[in-house]
Amino acid sequence: MFYPAIRKVLFQFDAETIHELTIKGLKSTGKSPFNRLYKQQVQNKPVTVMGINFPNPVGLAAGLDKNGECINAFSAMGFGFVEVGTVTPRPQPGNDKPRIFRLPTANAVINRMGFNNKGVDYLVSQVHAANFNGVLGINIGKNKDTPEENAKDDYLHCMRKVYDLASYITVNISSPNTPGLRSLQYGDALNELLSALKAEQGILTEKYGKYVPLAVKIAPDLSSDEVKSIAKSLIDNGIDGVIATNTTLSREGVEGLEFGDEQGGLSGQPVKDKSTQVIKLLSEALDNKLPIIGVGGIASSDDANEKLQAGASLIQVYTGFIYQGPPLVKNIVNGL
Ligand SMILES: Cc1cc2nc3c(=O)[nH]c(=O)nc-3n(C[C@H](O)[C@H](O)[C@H](O)COP(=O)(O)O)c2cc1C
Repeated sequence: MFYPAIRKVLFQFDAETIHELTIKGLKSTGKSPFNRLYKQQVQNKPVTVMGINFPNPVGLAAGLDKNGECINAFSAMGFGFVEVGTVTPRPQPGNDKPRIFRLPTANAVINRMGFNNKGVDYLVSQVHAANFNGVLGINIGKNKDTPEENAKDDYLHCMRKVYDLASYITVNISSPNTPGLRSLQYGDALNELLSALKAEQGILTEKYGKYVPLAVKIAPDLSSDEVKSIAKSLIDNGIDGVIATNTTLSREGVEGLEFGDEQGGLSGQPVKDKSTQVIKLLSEALDNKLPIIGVGGIASSDDANEKLQAGASLIQVYTGFIYQGPPLVKNIVNGL
């Protein structure tokens, strides 16, 4: 693999321009012989989590393939599962550019994308076109202009649209870039949302004759009492899994760096320990009643093993993948 050389060229350009070009390239080659450029064999390390059989426990985290355009390409790189989205009911442009910043000396990224996506109907068309038979997570959210009190309707709308196509569905209530979203993580708001989604899961299970697990994705910026309270809500509402964590609002580890004080969510190495800490707290509070998918700052098999030891059953990567490309997937899987 020659990713370090490619990265040197790619990193000369604005982060979002490169992102868009990469998505275009992967979209057009995913199912063609040109996928040889990034296709790789990784060891088989099967695990069963949430009743789903994963060929290996290393997944692509949400946000890189927001519209589900590159599912086959990411699968060819050896990911054991691919999570697409966050998708919202209606297309929306997201925040003004620039909205993604690389902080290479900290192996970090700050983003305030704001759920830019082409809407759930487009994502559904892409998933159909992919004709993918691997493990596919679909991550759902709310439109920016949907009032907070109606957030539930956006999640239900997306859930109904993607239910039959997803191996599991992620309920994203932890992006820092949609105003008010994170307030859904607490108390009555969380219980009301989860009980509505659980009821809908029952209806859809009947309709399609298949049970699609629901996972909830949470933030790293939670006190231990808040994590415990979320764990209780997840158990009480019969949720199937939890993804920990999203990006952080903290700027610890990037103080004084160029772009270090840009608004948005910080990811990569600076969020690693925070995320591991949340996983440990969750693991104690959940008492094995539901599995944890660990994400945040994973850039090596040692980092991945640390998340598994903290209590995760699966892991996902995003920022580490931006810095290291496809070889990271192989290195992690083979090093587990
Ligand atoms: C540019 C960017 C966009 C992201 N978009 C989403 C998103 O749409 N939905 C989501 O649940 N998480 C999103 N994330 C968060 C990642 O999925 C992941 O939880 C977080 O970055 C921590 O993992 P990492 O340190 O490996 O990047 C995004 C992250 C980045 C860097």
